[in-house]
Amino acid sequence: MNSSPAAAGVPVERAVARAIRGAAHTDDALARALAAIGEALGLEQVLVVENDGGRERWRRDGASAGDSPSFEFPARSERGTLARVECFGPGPSASLEVVEVQLGQLLERRRVEHSSDVAELRHRATLRAALDCVITIDHEGSVLEFNPAAERTFGYASEAAVGREMAELIVPPEMRERHRAGLRRYLEGGEPILLDRRVEVEAQRADGSRFPAELTITRIEVPGEPVFTGHLRDITERRAAEHQLRQSRTRLVEAAYEARRRIERDLHDGAQQQLVSVAMTLQGARGSLEREPAAAAELLDEAIAELRAATAELRELARGIHPAVLTEGGLDPALRGLVRRSPLAAKIAAVPAERFPAAVEAAAYFVVAEGLTNAARHAAGASLVEVEVVAGEGRLEVAVRDDGPGGASLGGGGLGGLADRVAALGGELAIASPVGAGTTLSAGIPCE
Ligand SMILES: Nc1ncnc2c1ncn2[C@@H]1O[C@H](COP(=O)(O)OP(=O)(O)OP(=O)(O)O)[C@@H](O)[C@H]1O
Ligand SMILES: [Mg+2]
Repeated sequence: MNSSPAAAGVPVERAVARAIRGAAHTDDALARALAAIGEALGLEQVLVVENDGGRERWRRDGASAGDSPSFEFPARSERGTLARVECFGPGPSASLEVVEVQLGQLLERRRVEHSSDVAELRHRATLRAALDCVITIDHEGSVLEFNPAAERTFGYASEAAVGREMAELIVPPEMRERHRAGLRRYLEGGEPILLDRRVEVEAQRADGSRFPAELTITRIEVPGEPVFTGHLRDITERRAAEHQLRQSRTRLVEAAYEARRRIERDLHDGAQQQLVSVAMTLQGARGSLEREPAAAAELLDEAIAELRAATAELRELARGIHPAVLTEGGLDPALRGLVRRSPLAAKIAAVPAERFPAAVEAAAYFVVAEGLTNAARHAAGASLVEVEVVAGEGRLEVAVRDDGPGGASLGGGGLGGLADRVAALGGELAIASPVGAGTTLSAGIPCE
């Protein structure tokens, strides 16, 4: 037998079968199959046009194929026709029915191979782009995949991590045995404890430092031994924010409690004493009503004056709790009232006429009140205090400026409490107070 398949007249389907068998993958198989067809049939060119437009071509060295094929046949499988095979050169010399199916099946396999290549590429890209650490382990707990977020978070290169036991890599030493036991128990048919739930754990970096993390482990459906994938997120910042929020809430609650105590004290020391005294005066007046009408009249005048003082005291107290004018008229009249009462000369540069949520108005009001009081108390020598409130882009910007000595910081009780009040609304309080160059207390408060 001649060693060249074409020359030996090996049936074309055997040549194709042999070409496919020897190929490493389906792309290669197709190229070899087309060459085998071309050689076996003595063609110049073979062109496969797939239904989706994809083309593969074999051409004899040095051949110049014509524009139109001399004949063509379909490549088909049980599912129908997959491609048209155009042959350039002499006409068909044999039945090609078997070749039609051989090529059809090959094209089908090639499609599957390509689509799983695409799926794999997509999977890789997703892992690379993920912000969460994605770590895949096999049934023995060894790392199969360690994405870039995991590399950054834990400080191991993927090449160093893959193949090592995950427990040893990222689980703190005292937790490792529990982790291993959990995996063992699950593989022996136990109920999963950790699977498909979000849990908070402590994780350990390559340098031994630890951080709180949120973890979800899922079993991936693959044939063979079980494979698990873990999605892990560093929640250090979230924990810190939660802690700050809790602390600020506690301070607010304490401040509210303090305010209640102060009102209680003010009522006790002020209005209550005055009312007690009114009652005593009235009692005296009643006693002398018949025998000494003139003295009784004097006592009644006294009682009336005491009542007026008590009423004024109560009004003052109520103003300190929540200014009625703010509730009724909004920031404009309320801030004008504050400026009018300010011991230092003060003026309003701007204040919006519209209304805002009650908590926002109250916060702005207290910023201005504290700014004016502080200026009067600490900025001796200031010639003017200016109040400016501007609304825009969902925020209320409040500023109180004086041209006093400066040197203030946010550490104090008044400003500290104010910072909490503003932060509770998602805003921030700032003070700019260079020594010798005046003080600006400002707050930005979200108001939508
Ligand atoms: N406008 C200002 N000019 C100069 N120094 C200021 C000014 N405002 C505040 N300070 C300084 O900053 C400190 C902190 O102010 P803060 O309002 O927190 O406390 P306070 O006014 O001393 O007390 P509280 O407000 O609790 O009654 C003040 O003690 C003062 O030294
Ligand atoms: Mg103060």
